[in-house]
Amino acid sequence: MSARKIIIDTDPGQDDAVAILLALASPELEVLGITAVAGNVPLALTQKNARIICELAGRPDMAVYAGCDAPLKRPLVTAEHVHGKTGLDGPDLPDPVMALADGHGVDFIIETLRTHDAGTVTLCPLGPLSNIATAFQKAPDIVNRVQEIVLMGGAYFAVGNITPTAEFNIYVDPEAADIVFKSGVNITVVPLDVTHKVLVTSARNDAFRAIGTPVGIAVAQMTDFFERFDKEKYGSLGAPLHDPCVTAYLIRPDLFGGRHINVEIETSSPLTLGMTVADWWGVTDRAPNATFLGDVDADGFFALLTDRLARL
Ligand code: BDR
Ligand code: CA
Repeated sequence: MSARKIIIDTDPGQDDAVAILLALASPELEVLGITAVAGNVPLALTQKNARIICELAGRPDMAVYAGCDAPLKRPLVTAEHVHGKTGLDGPDLPDPVMALADGHGVDFIIETLRTHDAGTVTLCPLGPLSNIATAFQKAPDIVNRVQEIVLMGGAYFAVGNITPTAEFNIYVDPEAADIVFKSGVNITVVPLDVTHKVLVTSARNDAFRAIGTPVGIAVAQMTDFFERFDKEKYGSLGAPLHDPCVTAYLIRPDLFGGRHINVEIETSSPLTLGMTVADWWGVTDRAPNATFLGDVDADGFFALLTDRLARL
């Protein structure tokens, strides 16, 4: 079977970094390019961090584009309190030598969808949906050329992390999320409900470190840093590894379970802005527009991730 073509749209972020590494290590996926977006930290850092990770993976040939530096209609909200000042705090990785690709990330998304056969390119957003929504607005002809969007964002049972009712990626650019969820594209959502079941316990972190390679050691250092915040906040055994669930789902969908339901985005209430209103229980007659994941085989996920990281 030929590799599935994907574009990773990302705001690294330690967990984004691990998601990128997993994709680059996996023959089932062909990464056509990486588009950075402002999110966890400003764009100047997310595009740089994406290049740092490509070089760590031994892929300085990868095309990394800078995309939107702000949400569609709102000032940027960042998450240095989780990811540190650089967004990639933890390991001491060198500044990238590889150059940023020429052109805007949004134009790369548009051109890639136009030049590949319709239905053969999957979008993998790991941050706010500003780049994807901007591409859909600028070039509506690409919308029905997208094979699928598999995104990390939202929550139902876990409700929220940046506010009591909103998950960070959706909260930062709710108008963009609204455009994407109303686009009619086949969408799979990896919400906090799933990612909070994928915790980097100390045994799992030890397994990363035991790989013994620069990648294994850097991932262990990233999750070491990342987990301080979550352990303190949730009293959990380790940090939820949010974004790698997207790339793991593309490689091993059998590790995940969910429901095809209606999901709408709150864009106006100051109290619940950015909430993913997910009709998990089917209590409305609103048409399903997304597959909303709820379950994951966490041991299977970590076995896959550790095995693949060891290949880099
Ligand atoms: C999401 O927000 C970011 O902080 C993480 O990288 C992840 O994409 C989790 O809410
Ligand atoms: Ca992210």
